[in-house]
Amino acid sequence: MKHKEILELLNKMTIEEKIGQMVQIAGDIFLSEDKNAVLTGPLKDLHLHNEMVYSIGSVLNVIGARNVRQVQKEYLSKSRLKIPLLFMDDIINGYKIAFPIPIAQGCSWNIKVIKEMAEISAMESSIAGANVNFSPMVDLSRDARWGRVMESIGGEDPLLGEIYAKTIVETYQGKKLTEVGKIASCVKHIAAYGAVEAGRDYNTVDMSEREFRQYYLPAYKSAIEAGAEMLMTSFNILNGIPATVNTWLIQEIIRKELGFKGIIISDYGAIEETIAHGYSANGKEAAKNAINAGVDIDMMSSIYANYLKELCIENQEIENKVNESVLRILSLKNKLGLFENPYGNINEEKEKTYLMNPSNLEKAKKLTQETFVLLKNKHHILPINKDKKIAFIGPYVNNIGITGSWSMFSDRSQNHTLLDSFQEKLGNNIAYAKGSEILRQEEINKILSAEGLPMVHIENEAQKEQEMIASAVEISKRADIILLALGEHYKQTGEACSRSDIALPENQIQLINELYKLSKPMILILFNGRPLQLNTIEEKLDSILEVWFPGTTGAKAITEIILGEENPSGKLTMSFPQNVGQCPVYYNHYNTGRPHHDNFRYVSRYQDIPTESFYPFGYGLSYCDFKYTELHLNKHKISENETITVMVKIENQSNYAGYEVVQLYIQDVYGSVVRPVKELKAFKKEYFKPHEIKYVKFDISIDMLKFWNDKLDYVAEPGQFKVFVGGDSVKVLEDKFEFLLD
Ligand code: BGC
Repeated sequence: MKHKEILELLNKMTIEEKIGQMVQIAGDIFLSEDKNAVLTGPLKDLHLHNEMVYSIGSVLNVIGARNVRQVQKEYLSKSRLKIPLLFMDDIINGYKIAFPIPIAQGCSWNIKVIKEMAEISAMESSIAGANVNFSPMVDLSRDARWGRVMESIGGEDPLLGEIYAKTIVETYQGKKLTEVGKIASCVKHIAAYGAVEAGRDYNTVDMSEREFRQYYLPAYKSAIEAGAEMLMTSFNILNGIPATVNTWLIQEIIRKELGFKGIIISDYGAIEETIAHGYSANGKEAAKNAINAGVDIDMMSSIYANYLKELCIENQEIENKVNESVLRILSLKNKLGLFENPYGNINEEKEKTYLMNPSNLEKAKKLTQETFVLLKNKHHILPINKDKKIAFIGPYVNNIGITGSWSMFSDRSQNHTLLDSFQEKLGNNIAYAKGSEILRQEEINKILSAEGLPMVHIENEAQKEQEMIASAVEISKRADIILLALGEHYKQTGEACSRSDIALPENQIQLINELYKLSKPMILILFNGRPLQLNTIEEKLDSILEVWFPGTTGAKAITEIILGEENPSGKLTMSFPQNVGQCPVYYNHYNTGRPHHDNFRYVSRYQDIPTESFYPFGYGLSYCDFKYTELHLNKHKISENETITVMVKIENQSNYAGYEVVQLYIQDVYGSVVRPVKELKAFKKEYFKPHEIKYVKFDISIDMLKFWNDKLDYVAEPGQFKVFVGGDSVKVLEDKFEFLLD
């Protein structure tokens, strides 16, 4: 459709039809056989009147070629102007193939990995009818208590967030949204949602504009510059005003400064929630606040549906804003080609051949392997010698539930258990005992009751627990190595899963303690969605492989790594805390006036734990041993428009081939505002053959030295800089240079 025709269409629309476009509801109501149930059920809860249903603009989380076709068809048959619906879905870590959760994907430090996962997700979901994906989530996350860190693609680092955001948006959207396999990206959540106080979900955020621009904004900005079609607001208050109705954020920053022209959608019910926040006095005011701020679509509340019309009648300016929003929505439908073909890229035939196809599953397995992080490997106990007798213990050994909390659409028919995968390779050299449940029932009941589900009582749970441990100990006595598969419950991570205790569940710790008494080598495969507190168990373990929630191909991917057929290469994107009291802990912090040093009491530290994180940002081992030497700068002074070339020698001192993520950090030693102790500025993931030596090169430019000063200018200031290169943010080689003005 030409732009002129869209304007003509807009002119034909009644005010009700326009407002309908700005409302999004869960689309399953169209799928119900019993239409009465539909109109009395969800719509009643949302206080929507029946006519509104056939003028709404988009639906949430309906997917599958058959379903989407059915809903679109029925909707169009009843809609006066035949404006097709938009189908928006949460394909957070894949559709039918579940990929590793986003925090894990980020740990690959490999753009190719991120891109290929996004490509398959987009193709799978677009042929199944998705037009828009509520992804990527690029909220910078420093606090492991926050359950949603599992969704954060860049973890605690703004540069990773920036790079990954661009990669994912460009991959989802391609050059043209009508191309097969392309979907629009809805980037979330604007803004600073990851900074919720005390890591409690939906909580308050208060931060200086400088801090916001320096750390939190870059990833959203990068997504906008990459052409993201949509943004989603966040649930938090930002500096006193809920983000969803924050005019400064949406109008000044997002629209004016960053030039965002696409659609802004509220998060689920967030416009209505501005009342509970104590900002909007009632529904009408909530609608007014949101439309004035610039929110185009009200997700899952009836605020726009019920109050926008009245506001338009009272105020022409609001009607103008409604017209602008509807124009944006119609324009996206047009870009997706839905006016010509309301069924978009839906393709039942391709669905049959492409979804879960074996070559994608094989690819997924390889990609998944790059997301694992080897946290510890004492005496190179991994990879496991295949001749050893293994006791395989833990609730994740014989469990296909390893796809994480957003994998509701994934096809579990191809999920394997670790037990299957190991037995396939090693036959009967493995003895299995569950050893413990993931959680005690009391913990599960807390989750069930929060979901309104009935609680379960288990008779003699304590005794059963002891019996499970006893049989694990028994089989371990006869083994050479104890291989543990433990971790969080997937329902302990994700939205509304903030936790003040981020250690492994108590019953699993008890299992470790009992097995430790056998003095046998113990290896832990760790399933989780956040950095965990490992301080009480780490010493008892010889090796720890962090596998997050690895998705459909996870079990096979892990098996190959543990057996040494593949080599781990992931690096952490979030620091692991010593214990929960240290949260938030992150590598790019500022110095205090009293940095920690020994033998002096009045310094900035904890009395009971070290100041440093337990495992730092950027950290991750390999079966290779990489030795960094000979850091060399081609000059030690730089002026405007110049670059410094940094070179480092890296030697793979092992018989294994593998990847290493070489990281370059810079510190601006003195600034007009204080600067962090280190900031990641560049990285390269390099492949090394056994015993290969490589010289890895980076260029430092003045752009890398820029920051937001106290006048909110983005500047590089002359002075001293330190440069660090290493395989993580702590173990680095160091040199310095000076930036001089010409
Ligand atoms: C989440 C969003 C998600 C939306 C739709 C909300 O509760 O915060 O990230 O996209 O629901 O499912």
